[in-house]
Amino acid sequence: MSPNPQRWTAAEIPAQAGKLALITGANSGIGCQTALELARARCGVILGCRDRIRGDAARAHILALVPAAHVEVLALDLASLESVRAAADRFLSTGRHLSPLINNAGVLAPPRRQLTRDGFELQFGTNHLGHFALTGLLLPALLSPDAIPGAAPSRIVTVSSIAHRGAAMDFADLQWERGYRPWPAYRRSKLANLLFGFELERRLEKARAAAFSVVVHPGVSSTNLFAAGPGQGHGLIARLTPAVIALFAQSGAQGALPTLYAATAPEIRGGHFYGCDGFREMRGYPVEVRAETQAYDEAMAAKLWEVSENLTGVKYPLPESQP
Ligand SMILES: NC(=O)c1ccc[n+]([C@@H]2O[C@H](COP(=O)([O-])OP(=O)(O)OC[C@H]3O[C@@H](n4cnc5c(N)ncnc54)[C@H](OP(=O)(O)O)[C@@H]3O)[C@@H](O)[C@H]2O)c1
Repeated sequence: MSPNPQRWTAAEIPAQAGKLALITGANSGIGCQTALELARARCGVILGCRDRIRGDAARAHILALVPAAHVEVLALDLASLESVRAAADRFLSTGRHLSPLINNAGVLAPPRRQLTRDGFELQFGTNHLGHFALTGLLLPALLSPDAIPGAAPSRIVTVSSIAHRGAAMDFADLQWERGYRPWPAYRRSKLANLLFGFELERRLEKARAAAFSVVVHPGVSSTNLFAAGPGQGHGLIARLTPAVIALFAQSGAQGALPTLYAATAPEIRGGHFYGCDGFREMRGYPVEVRAETQAYDEAMAAKLWEVSENLTGVKYPLPESQP
């Protein structure tokens, strides 16, 4: 990777006054740091959280550091399409414009196969399908910048991972009914994040919509992710994984920088992927990075889109194509 003289930090976030962001999984780790820094830049923030107590605690944490912040908690369980629909309806009923939407929440490699409320494998269902449904349902709020004179296009930022590398997208067994393996299932869900984010950009562009979609990854960051997933196993490796990761991982605050950069920097372009500039992209400052080749496979992305529409019942209110 070429040197990155920019070394962008949260101090460079342009003023966000008047904006309203929704961040999924904002009670912990990268999502919480993202919400905090957006709030510091005067962006109103909505914390999409599945647990009210953890959501309220995150809100109190942000308000303690930024007393003037506008912070709301929105009940949102991405592992339940009913909850996703209810959250989107609640937001839409307020008639407010939304930007950015940050699809951040995630689960990593639970040792045994688990299912969402709707019977999807937990990682594919939460990390991909939940966000696919949420984004489609919230699109009317993202595409209403006409209400704000001179508003810039809305942004949709989806958080993937360097773990998308080496993933296999097996459409014959998307729910891992045969031979569930925790890490390959995580990898696939993170490849799905990329395929979705890039396909969404192509569709927004085709429809000439006033929004763009980008994908980011946070390197390897010390958050709750490893304890909540692999740490639930019983073996020695399961118990050691969170501690080993914590030894070499960067902080959650540093890991949030690619998300913050993609959500706010003026030079960001739709359909691109932003990560970290350090060794093997595991740490460092935000920079544009290249995803694995299959993430750019348009046929695979179109197929995933169709399957996702069928599984979630959410159709995006975008014209198929325009001349
Ligand atoms: N940390 C890393 O090194 C790393 C590397 C690559 C990619 N990522 C990605 O970064 C994103 C954020 O992860 P993190 O590292 O900040 O981990 P984290 O601290 O565990 O945060 C994950 C967040 O997702 C929420 N979440 C999980 N399942 C949910 C559901 N069904 N509905 C709504 N929210 C749900 C969690 O809520 P609860 O607190 O209620 O569980 C939590 O707020 C994830 O997409 C992850 O894949 C992280």
